Order: sequence, then C-alpha cells, then structure tokens
Amino acid sequence: DETLEEIARLPKVELHLHLEGAAPPAFVRGLAAEKRVDLGRIFRADGGYAFEGFGPFLSVYEAATSVIDGPEDYARLVRAVLETAAAADVVYCETFVSPDFCGGGDVAAWREHVAAMREAADAAERDLGVTMRGVVTCVRHFGPDRARRAARCAAETAGDWITGFGMGGDEAAGEQKDFAWAFDCAREAGLGLTTHAGEWRGPDEVRAALDHLRVSRIGHGVRAAEDPALLERLAEDGVVLEVCPGSNVALGVAPRLDAHPIATLRDAGVKVTVSTDDPPFFHTDMRAEYIGLARAFGWDAGDFDALARTALDAAFCDADTRARVA
Ligand code: ADE
Ligand code: ZN
Repeated sequence: DETLEEIARLPKVELHLHLEGAAPPAFVRGLAAEKRVDLGRIFRADGGYAFEGFGPFLSVYEAATSVIDGPEDYARLVRAVLETAAAADVVYCETFVSPDFCGGGDVAAWREHVAAMREAADAAERDLGVTMRGVVTCVRHFGPDRARRAARCAAETAGDWITGFGMGGDEAAGEQKDFAWAFDCAREAGLGLTTHAGEWRGPDEVRAALDHLRVSRIGHGVRAAEDPALLERLAEDGVVLEVCPGSNVALGVAPRLDAHPIATLRDAGVKVTVSTDDPPFFHTDMRAEYIGLARAFGWDAGDFDALARTALDAAFCDADTRARVA
C-alpha cells in the first residue's frame, strides 16, 4: 500500500531507546562467543531473545548486557544501533546509557565509555545521517545509592552529548521519591529529566514522578489514560510521554495495538511521542511502529509529522542540534 510505504519512510525522532536493549541478538551472541561466556539460555532456537513477561525480560536484558563490557564494546554497540536506526529513517535519537553497566558507577571509567560512545555516534552521524545523544539512566531496582552514583556520573559528563538523566528498571521497586536526590543532582547539572512511570503502576505513579522528580518527560506513562484528572494535568503542563506501543503489546501492558491507550492520550491533548524501547526484544523498529499505528488508528503522514515535531521539540539536545536535524 502506497500510503503506508510513504509513512514508513518519513523521517523519525526517537526519544526512548535503551542502548543495551537495542543490541541485536547476533551482536550479543558474538560477544559471548569471543569471551567464551555461555549465554545459550537467553536465546531461542530462532536466534531471538527468550523471555516471557517483564521480570524475565529484565533478567535476559541484564544477562545480555553482562557480555557488553568496556568502551570498545560500547562503541561497536552504538554503531550497530545507529545502523538499524538509520535503516528505519530515524534522523535523531536519544538513547539511555547506564554508568551501572559502563564501569559500575566509577566516574573515570564512565568518562572513557562516554568518549567512546560519542566518537562512534559522531562517525555514524557523518556516515549515516542520524544524530544520537545520550540520556544517563539509573536502574530503579538497583536502589537509590547506585542511582546517586549514576547521577554524579551524569553531572560529570553533562554537556552536548550527555543531555539528560532518567530512570528505568522495575517500577515495582521502591518509590519515585527515593530517587529525588539523584534527580536534583542531575537537574543542577543542567540535564533534562525523564523517568519510567505508569508502564506497570497506575496514575499515582505518574503523579509521584511529576511531584517528586519534577521531570518534563515520562517514559511510557500510558496508564495515565485511566485517570481523566491526570490527563488534564499532563495536557495543561505540556508533559511529554515517551510511548512505546510495540513494547507495551509485547510485554502485555496493552492487550493489542488497536486497544493501546495512545489514541486516548493524544485525543486528550497530551503530548505523545513514539519510540521502540528495546527493539530486538520486542521484534520492532520505528518503521514497524509507524505502520502499526497507521493501521490501528488511521493516522496519516501529517499526524506522524506532528508526532516527530513534538518529539524533536521535547529532545534534550541544544537548539543548534535541533535546528540542524529539523
Ligand atoms: N529497561 C529496558 N526496558 C524497560 C522497560 N520497558 N521498562 C522499564 N525498564 C526498562
Ligand atoms: Zn524503557
């Protein structure tokens, strides 16, 4: 279908992409073989990642990440991820990068990882025409102490490549307010802020993110659709949701794409954007997300252009970068 083909090829802006979660299974398998680590249990017979549900997803994610080790591996990963992104016509993406996985929270080690990732991203920008920026992320189920270390790393590298700070991981672990110190530290360093909320827990978790962490963006946030008063607040305050429809369907947050709350959120005037989260885990990419949404909700090229504009406006990069990408 010609219209779908046109939509698939639109330039795209992606705000919510976990770097390790974007590692192709073949890439991880290759590293495991090089390092003689047996990771057989995390792969299916067809080569994909093997998991069922969110808990097992996080375990497989962390097992895969365990063989991605050192600045050189991370530089290769950035290259592989940007090749995939460019093939889906992504022109700008922000990726979650984690000091916990890159040097264990040590600032000097973290600096080396950032330098390597940045160099790979700059090369990919020249070769492939896709711009990447890093959003340092802490991991909720690793707890507030490790989040503080991640935030210090973020503050030490804040600048034109590291543009933001966020939190992912198990939303059932602890409370948003336990991480206020880390987010304050990142805010003082001038970083943009986002946290996963309202993917698994309900509307009150989204409120807690806004009240205690004072973020301008929310990772997922889709369960806000259950609460009209919260929708009004999100719309009024211009809070941007990083919605990942394919991820939500794959993990069972939404039963089917055509029953996904993204249309409700958008109709309520909330700023929604579209991302892939962890594309090879969920068998998706940005083209597939666009085609799925066009089919499920009848969105046209103009709707997707508006979505990409919202995403670029909400990007944590500086104005020069935004102008160059647009
Ligand atoms: N880390 C990677 N993907 C995630 C998700 N969907 N939710 C929370 N943490 C994550
Ligand atoms: Zn995520």
